[in-house]
Amino acid sequence: MAKQEDDFKKVISHAKEYGYVFQSSEIYDGLSAVYDYAQNGVELKKNIREYWWTAMVQLNDNIVGLDAAIFMHPTTWKASGHVDAFSDPLIDNKDSKKRYRADVLVEDHIAKIEAKIEKEVTKAAKRFGEAFDKEQFLATNRRVVDYQEKAANISKRLGKSLGNEDLADVKKLIEELEISCPMSGSKNWTDVKQFNLMFGTKLGASAETAMDLYLRPETAQGIFVNFLNVQKSSRMKIPFGIAQTGKAFRNEIVARQFIFRMREFEQMEMQFFIKPGTQKEWYEHWKEHRLKWHLSLGLGEENYRFHDHEKLAHYADAAADIEFRFPFGFKELEGIHSRTDFDLSKHQEYSGKKLQYFDTEENKNYVPYVVETSIGLDRMFLAIFSNSLKEEELENGSTRTVLKIPAVLAPTKAAVFPLVKKDGLPELAKEIVDDLKWDFNVIYDQKDAVGRRYRRQDANGTPFCITVDHQSLEDQTVTIRHRDTMEQQRVAISDVKDIIHQEVDMKSWLKKML
Ligand code: GAP
Repeated sequence: MAKQEDDFKKVISHAKEYGYVFQSSEIYDGLSAVYDYAQNGVELKKNIREYWWTAMVQLNDNIVGLDAAIFMHPTTWKASGHVDAFSDPLIDNKDSKKRYRADVLVEDHIAKIEAKIEKEVTKAAKRFGEAFDKEQFLATNRRVVDYQEKAANISKRLGKSLGNEDLADVKKLIEELEISCPMSGSKNWTDVKQFNLMFGTKLGASAETAMDLYLRPETAQGIFVNFLNVQKSSRMKIPFGIAQTGKAFRNEIVARQFIFRMREFEQMEMQFFIKPGTQKEWYEHWKEHRLKWHLSLGLGEENYRFHDHEKLAHYADAAADIEFRFPFGFKELEGIHSRTDFDLSKHQEYSGKKLQYFDTEENKNYVPYVVETSIGLDRMFLAIFSNSLKEEELENGSTRTVLKIPAVLAPTKAAVFPLVKKDGLPELAKEIVDDLKWDFNVIYDQKDAVGRRYRRQDANGTPFCITVDHQSLEDQTVTIRHRDTMEQQRVAISDVKDIIHQEVDMKSWLKKML
């Protein structure tokens, strides 16, 4: 646990030191769970968004984009069920006065049991060496089987009590598991209560006439209310999807873990409208397709897993998370939800406007079903950033800090250095920058010895460093150094652009999905 916390602290401080993420309003001591993206962070975020948009909209003939407003008519949220049901179960510790999500306390307890299983697996792998069969060990080792059963039973009971709105049983479970307050160790808990997560605001000049509004807690509803507008103006035929990226706001109770759980965050969502009865097949399709998108980035297959929901949201008939191994364990990165016709039917009911599709093949009208894919951009950022940050030991015994962000997403693709600040080398280096900047984000750096400049760019996540030396003036060649391998090549200046393109082009990365 201590190592995990230590690693996570390193991620947070690296994000600040290298201009990725800052605490919001830091000079006023910050605002809890609100963050700003700095010069590198904004580029990484933009590149992730583009990687998603290209895969979802550009490469799918039957998916189009949308950018709906954050403010929506307040009835939207009544119809969607958010006014009545968008809440988390909270519990207070009477001694420390700290507030927690009751379900998260139980999930953290399960995570501790899972960590014990992992520990047993690591120990056994060491003991048995090459002969180790993980599957068999998980299925037969008595202690591990007990742990697995215990975790599964707790998860099942939690799902059942939350599903039945039995908050008294959630408290009972916390007491039975002897869960204590992580801050004080006290087990003196209040009852569990529901807490609505939506932020309210007002529209209008005078207090008497102002209209109560909400900041949207998900982007999805902007897609639902525009379903017919988009379908008619784009002449899309079912099955088709509408994709959108944008800010969402939630008054999270447990707002910790850096940008994992924020009060203002960005979502990338796609609603796929389908014929009723086909939802199972599309749900499986999107689960598989979205996992392939994640795997295309090469962060390691072992770092992902599916978690099928026991407790379903009020709108879903099936739901799964794609979980990622964050520095604090496996947690939800993306949700895939089979939302039935719940949302469109409710908007139809509350607005009194028909939200139906005329199926020419079936020769009938129906309210389409929806399968949704929903990923948090900030969470994806954290997954990439934390997975990419490495401390490497080098052959000469020294260490380097390197941010191995997939080259396609790196904020700066190349840094160009003159070996020395004289003899015409800066001028040639700047010429190279001026040429490359039409294609990529590149920077010029002439400060410090070249070795220190390499280290700086490694820590910054820059995949290529290009050094101009005296030979460059004679034969128009430079050295190009690869961040991940530290390999250096002598190449013609005229080839540099192609070499970078080969590594950073989205096409070759996304083709891995096929
Ligand atoms: N439209 C469905 C929906 O919003 P969700 O599971 O509540 O579903 C989808 O959210 C994704 O949004 C999550 O998988 C997560 O990546 C991201 N997300 C949700 N709450 C978040 C928060 N407070 N901070 C950062 N990301 C969040």
